[in-house]
This record gives sequence, structure tokens and C-alpha cells, in this order.
Amino acid sequence: MQKKLNKVAKDTNTFLKNYLRNQKQTKLIDPIKYGLFPGGKKIRVKILVDIGKILSVPYRHLIRIGAAIECIHAYSLIHDDLPCMDDDDIRRGKLTVHKKYGESTAVLAGNSLLTMAFEIISEKKFPIQDKKKNQLVHILAASSGHTGIAGGQFLDLSFERQRIGKSKILEMQLNKTGKLFMFSTLAPAILSNKKNIFKKFSNLGLEIGLLFQIIDDLLDFKGNAKKLGKKIHKDKKKGKATLISLLGYKNTVKYCNFKKNKIFRDLKNLKKSNDLKDTIEFIVNREK
Ligand code: IPE
Ligand code: IPE
Ligand code: MG
Ligand code: MG
Ligand code: MG
Repeated sequence: MQKKLNKVAKDTNTFLKNYLRNQKQTKLIDPIKYGLFPGGKKIRVKILVDIGKILSVPYRHLIRIGAAIECIHAYSLIHDDLPCMDDDDIRRGKLTVHKKYGESTAVLAGNSLLTMAFEIISEKKFPIQDKKKNQLVHILAASSGHTGIAGGQFLDLSFERQRIGKSKILEMQLNKTGKLFMFSTLAPAILSNKKNIFKKFSNLGLEIGLLFQIIDDLLDFKGNAKKLGKKIHKDKKKGKATLISLLGYKNTVKYCNFKKNKIFRDLKNLKKSNDLKDTIEFIVNREK
């Protein structure tokens, strides 16, 4: 699994580096690169590639879409770390973008990464039908804005230091994290034109994304800061509403097992899903 993940990460970074090389070299290029590279795990691209394998989508198309996803993800992290949000100094083992370049530059580098995702997908030389490009742009936009990441981040911040029930916490996490995973599982279905599986694959992505976020919360509670490349115990300090703050650590671990088993039951009869299953195991057992 780690080897396959490394390959996906390397290919995504290569795509992004080439893409940036061909853009006008503005003053924002350096902070943009700083936010993108050396970069994180690329787990959302791995999920995309795993689903693409199941649906026989060409790998190079998946890497382009994965690069767009990583731009949105990097933007969301740059903004998530700002003083007006989670106020964090360390990300991916180095200073956060605003600590390195200042707040206004971090906001603008983030904005640029968000829009760059759509440049990458709508680029003329991406050889898929315009109709499919439109669908991808539409769903990625909805997954990023107020019905997705931004909306979820709003809830995350407005829930701080409040007692919030389980369904509201899950709704917040499904939006801030689940929606981008949903795009990872839905995009290959769009490319392969299989309308009848859209619902099933959207749900799968949402469930995997939710699981990923809850594991992130568990790692914040009990993980290793050095391995994670970010500080731990941030959620408690900020009074974040998480399943851990509501149910406790042990019950949250149980909830993750329950969710994982449910996902595996749903995948039971899906052919060529071994890579995807390995990725889900990795998500649950990861230390970073
Ligand atoms: C961290 O995401 C933020 C969450 C949504 C939990 P990742 O853990 O995927 O971050 P990187 O890309 O590997 O740094
Ligand atoms: C971030 O969640 C979710 C985003 C969409 C950016 P967290 O705030 O828990 O992520 P970390 O722990 O800072 O990486
Ligand atoms: Mg946050
Ligand atoms: Mg944060
Ligand atoms: Mg976290």
C-alpha cells in the first residue's frame, strides 16, 4: 500500500510541478508551491485512483483530476491554519504558509489554489468530453463552497466551545472533509459514464471521508506530533466539537470500527476493489 501511495503522490506532484512551470511566474508562485510541496499523503488522489481502477478510467486522467483535488485540499489547509480559523503554526512538518509569508499572502495563495483546480480541469488539452468537464467542475465547486468544505468549516468554527449533538457533528465533518472525498469517488464514475452508480459511489466517498476525519481527530488526541507533522491536542485547546469531546476516546474508536465494517460490507461484491480496501485499512491504522 505505501509503495502504491508513494507512486500516486509522486505522479501528482510531477503533474503539479509541470503545470506550475508553464504558468506565469507571479509573486504568488512561491507561497503556492510552499503550500503544495513537498506535500501531504495524497490520500484523496489514492482513493480516486483506486476507484478509477475499479471503473477502468485511464490513469493519466485520474492524475490530472487528483492534482485539482490536491489544489483544493492545500487551499483548505492554508486557510484552516489562519489565525481567524484554527490558528496553527506548523503543517506538514514546517511553518504554516501565513507564518512563513504573512496572512494576506496566505489568503491569496489559498484563493489562487482554489481557482487553479478549475483551471486544471477545464484546460483545453484535457482530452475528455466537454460535457464531462462541466460535470466535474460543477460537482467540485459544490464540494468546495458553502455546500461543502467552506460550509463545513463554518460549522466547525461556530461549534467551538459548545455542546453539539452527534448528528450535527457528523453533518459538519461530512461537509468539511467528506465532500472532497465524495468528489474523489464520484469523478471516476462521471468519466466512465455510469449514471446508475453515482449515488452508491457518492455515499462511499462521504463515508470514507467521515472516517478519515474522525481518525484525524483521534490522532489529534493520541497521535505523535512529529510523525503527523502538526501539533496535537489542538482540538481540545480550541474546544472543537468532535465525537471524542462528545462520546470519549474509546467510544469514538468503536464508532470508527463500526463505520469501517459498514464500508467493507458495502464493498463486498465490488470487483477489483482490493486496492481500495487496502487504502481504507491504511486510513484507519495510519499514524500520520
Ligand atoms: C488533514 O488532511 C486535514 C483533514 C481533512 C483531516 P490530510 O491528513 O490529508 O493532510 P495531508 O495532505 O496529508 O497533509
Ligand atoms: C480540517 O480539519 C478540515 C479541512 C477541510 C481543512 P482539521 O482542522 O481537524 O485539520 P488539521 O487537524 O488542522 O489538519
Ligand atoms: Mg479546522
Ligand atoms: Mg486545523
Ligand atoms: Mg485535526
